[in-house]
Amino acid sequence: MVNTIVIFGASGDLTARKLVPALYNLMRKGRLPANTRIVGFARRSYTHEDFRKLMRDGVAKFSESGIDEQVWAGFEPLLFYVRGELDKAEDYTMLDGALRKIEGSAANRTYYLSTAPEYYTPAAQALGKVGMANETEGFRRLVIEKPFGRDLASAMVLNDAVHAHWAEQQLYRIDHYLGKETAQNILFFRFANALFEPVWNRNTIANVQISVAESVDVGHRAGYYDTSGVLRDMFQNHLLQLLSLVAMEPPYSFNADAVRTEKVKLLSAVRAIDTDDVVLGQYRGYAETPGVTPNSTTPTFAAMRLFVDNWRWRGVPFYIRCGKAMPKKASEITVQFHEPPHTMFTTVNVARMRPNAIRMFIAPKEGINLTFASKVPDTTQEARTVSMSFDFNEQNGERLPEAYERLLLDAMLGDASLFIRSDEIQRAWELMDPLVQNHTAPTVYEQGSWGPSESTALLKREGVTWIQM
Ligand code: BG6
Repeated sequence: MVNTIVIFGASGDLTARKLVPALYNLMRKGRLPANTRIVGFARRSYTHEDFRKLMRDGVAKFSESGIDEQVWAGFEPLLFYVRGELDKAEDYTMLDGALRKIEGSAANRTYYLSTAPEYYTPAAQALGKVGMANETEGFRRLVIEKPFGRDLASAMVLNDAVHAHWAEQQLYRIDHYLGKETAQNILFFRFANALFEPVWNRNTIANVQISVAESVDVGHRAGYYDTSGVLRDMFQNHLLQLLSLVAMEPPYSFNADAVRTEKVKLLSAVRAIDTDDVVLGQYRGYAETPGVTPNSTTPTFAAMRLFVDNWRWRGVPFYIRCGKAMPKKASEITVQFHEPPHTMFTTVNVARMRPNAIRMFIAPKEGINLTFASKVPDTTQEARTVSMSFDFNEQNGERLPEAYERLLLDAMLGDASLFIRSDEIQRAWELMDPLVQNHTAPTVYEQGSWGPSESTALLKREGVTWIQM
C-alpha cells in the first residue's frame, strides 16, 4: 500500500526546517515506511523540481547529519508539489486528483496542517466535505500543529469544527516537546525502574521545578508572538505536558489512550492557579520590536506555583517558569527532596550541602543527574554534595533524533501516544484561560537575565531558590 504524507503550507518554514529533514532522516535510517510519497501543497507556484531543490537546501542546512548523496538520490523522487489555495474548495478536489495520480493505487494518507492557524478549520472541513477524510480506500489521518486554539472557547470551537468531519482517532494534535527523547524518557525513568517511583511523592519530595529558558528573543515572529505570549505559546502546551509526564500516575499500559487518560487525570487535579502565584515579565525592548503593538502587555516570561491536589502530591509546590531573552537555552526538570529527618554529622559543612535532587535535562543538554551527600575524604564528619550523571549522547553514540522524526513516524504508524487528545487540550486551556484572559501588565526584565526579581521572590517566601541552570 502506498503511504502518502501531504504537507499543507509546504512553503512555510517548518517544512524545510523540520518536517522534510525528519522524513529524510527516517529514510537514512531505513525507517521510512515503504512506498512513501511526500506531497507539498501551498500557494506558491513551484514545480516538483523547485520543491525538491528547496527541500534539499533545507536538509543540507537543518539536518545535523547533512546530505548523504546516495540517500538523497533515493529520497528526492518521493517529493512532489501541488499548487493550490487553502480556502478554495475546488483546490481540494484538484489535490485529490493529483494525489491519486502520484499514488497510482490505493493509499494510506496522513495530512499535515502546517499552515497558519486560521486555516485549520477551513482545511479540516474542506478535506471532509470532498471525501478526503473517508477511510474506505486506506486510513486518513489529520496532524494539526500548535497552537490549537488561543483560549478555551476557541479551542472548543476548533475541536467541534474538526470533529464534524473527523473521528478523534483520526486526529494527531502535535506538541513537539513530546517528540523529544528526553521528555519521553521521563516515563521510562519513573516506570521502568523500581528505584524511583516509591519515593516519587509528597513524603520525600519537597518541590518540583520545571524551567524552560530560551536565549533568543521573539525575532522575526513578533507579529505572531504578540498575539500569543508565553502563556499560550509555551505554558498551555509544552510546560503542562512536561508537568503531566513528571507527575502523572502510572498508566496500566503504554498505549495511547491509557497514557493520555492519566495525563488528563493529572491536569484535572491541578488546582486553579492563584494569580498571587503568578509572575509575568516582558524583556526590555520587546515593545519596540517591529510587529509588536506599542505598549504591548504581552508577557515574554512567566513563573508560577502550581499544586496538584491528589494523594501523591498534596502540598508539594510545582514551580514552573519559561521565558525568552534569558541567559541561556536550557530546559530542565528538577525534583528536590526533603532534608534528612535528622543529621548526626555534627560538622556538616552547610555551605557545601544541598538536599538530594534529580535533575532531568531536556535540552540542549540531554541526560539525568542525581545529587547526594558524600563524605569529604580525610575529615571525620564532613559531608558535601556530589553527583552521578547519565548523558544520553555519550551512551547512544549517535545524536538523539529530532522530535519530528518520532512524531511523523508515529502518526504514519498510527500510534497517538505522543499526541494530544481533545480532552487534554480542553483541560490545559481551562487552567490557562483565567491567566491569559485578564492578566496584569508584566514587569520589565533585562535581556539576558532570569526574569523579574518577583520570580525569585515567588520561591523565596518558602525558602526555596530556582535551581541554577
Ligand atoms: C515553539 C514555540 O512551540 O517552541 C517557540 O512557538 C519556541 O516560541 C519553541 O521557541 C521552543 O522549542 P524548542 O524545541 O527549541 O525548545
